[in-house]
Amino acid sequence: MTSKPPKLGKREIRAFQAQIWAFYAHSGRKLPWRNTKNPYKILVSEIMLQQTQVSRVLEKYPEFLKIFPDVDALAKAPLSLVLHTWQGMGYNRRAKYLHDTAQSIINEHGGHIPKTVSLLLKLPGIGNYTARAVVTFAYNKAEIFIETNIRRVYIHHFFGKKEDVTDKEILLLIQQTIDADNPREWYYALMDYGSFLPKAKHNNANLQSKHYTKQSTFKGSLRELRGVIIRTLDKSPSTLRAIKSVCKNNPRTQEAIARLLKEKLIQYENGKYRLA
Ligand code: ADE
Repeated sequence: MTSKPPKLGKREIRAFQAQIWAFYAHSGRKLPWRNTKNPYKILVSEIMLQQTQVSRVLEKYPEFLKIFPDVDALAKAPLSLVLHTWQGMGYNRRAKYLHDTAQSIINEHGGHIPKTVSLLLKLPGIGNYTARAVVTFAYNKAEIFIETNIRRVYIHHFFGKKEDVTDKEILLLIQQTIDADNPREWYYALMDYGSFLPKAKHNNANLQSKHYTKQSTFKGSLRELRGVIIRTLDKSPSTLRAIKSVCKNNPRTQEAIARLLKEKLIQYENGKYRLA
């Protein structure tokens, strides 16, 4: 059964906001992507922060921006260099999407990052979260969006022991509680509070989310295999035999190669595979 979340009273909203702001005042994180209003730099950070830990992104972000300081530089670069720079972040498909997006921005938007959610949503690999986060963080506009840390805050604070909480229910609360005077920092504060709340195996409020999916084991996964292949081809183009050998003849090697070819992350030429 899903019950509609209550309409919150003014006092309840104020108390919640006060708690989040108080936490942020003493424990807010200073992060480099919060020091900029440049929509390109914000877009890069948001794509990186999906599925990769803040600590890892902190290492890669400055390096990436040094090599690709603006949309133009990224769009003009070969995908192989983008993938090379992305090494260590995992989920290489995101690098391809980011590269495709940069090219769309150059070709279809005169090099300017779209300023509206609906236009951003048309770019490759940009979903609801990213489009709204970019608009909020770049322009301080009160868009309504949710990600894992924000989800944890609302379940923890508003849903008690309830199970199967939907994002739809949570989004209604996000809308009611947003600090419309300063949405940019409000979302920073929510994310910081959510990342501080317990995330341990059995003590994570997100276990009560209807959309909760445990990240599957990396060891032995297709994802791991894909990473090995990309890293191998980043060093030099290789034959199938050579790839199979670095993959220790893992039976899913062919499948991983086929997927990478289909997604155009790699290509086949003169008997060898190489980064696209
Ligand atoms: N600040 C802005 N976006 C963020 C994110 N996705 N994760 C953590 N901190 C952020």
